[in-house]
Amino acid sequence: MSAARTPTGTAGHSPLVIAIDGPAGAGKSTVGRAVAERLGLDYLDTGAMYRAVTFGVLRRGIDPQSIDDVAAVAAAIELDVDDGRVVVDGVDAAIEIRGREVTSAVSAVAANSAVRSELVRRQRDWVTEHGGGVVEGRDIGSVVFPDASLKLFVTASPRVRAERRVAEIGGDVDEVEASIIERDRQDSSRHDSPLVEAAGATVVDTTGLSIDAVVLEIMGMLDR
Ligand code: DC
Repeated sequence: MSAARTPTGTAGHSPLVIAIDGPAGAGKSTVGRAVAERLGLDYLDTGAMYRAVTFGVLRRGIDPQSIDDVAAVAAAIELDVDDGRVVVDGVDAAIEIRGREVTSAVSAVAANSAVRSELVRRQRDWVTEHGGGVVEGRDIGSVVFPDASLKLFVTASPRVRAERRVAEIGGDVDEVEASIIERDRQDSSRHDSPLVEAAGATVVDTTGLSIDAVVLEIMGMLDR
């Protein structure tokens, strides 16, 4: 269809992979799902995978900071994460993974290198099984798929991200903004695979833009 569909040198053989990274609440999921639908691709939310492992850790009564115990959970856990579906060891966890308990423990689990390498492996397998996809996270363009067909870094100001979250789930904007800034700090300063703009990524700032406008901008990049 277009040059952007196949990375240089592998024309016709590589599946279309769109990597979307960026901080929490920037609009990655909404934009990613819309782009996937437009392109007829499947969509993978890798944050849901880190949350699912965290759910499994808490359910087993394990301390999220306990490196070896958490690594063992990641290796053994049965995960079924697909658009909207999150099943952990046969238990539907789609709602719980968004709750306060998982949200406050997930950064510690995501900083565990053994968890990261296990989930990166599972993410690559997912893309192989699905023949490509739109994959969203923090390290997709930098670590998981550095040769992705298109790499995007979707961002927005902390204030706008807080306002969007409050519109969705309520709460106090100042408090939500403070927790967003703290989570950004943790995700960007961790030793293993910090949140960074991947080499070759295009920055998409969604502050003040509608979802439709952002999706149009991205589709335009693919047609180029
Ligand atoms: O996108 P989210 O808020 O659901 O992500 C949950 C946590 O997982 C967050 O602390 C960032 C982390 N994460 C990560 O480290 N690497 C990814 N590829 C995706 C998410």
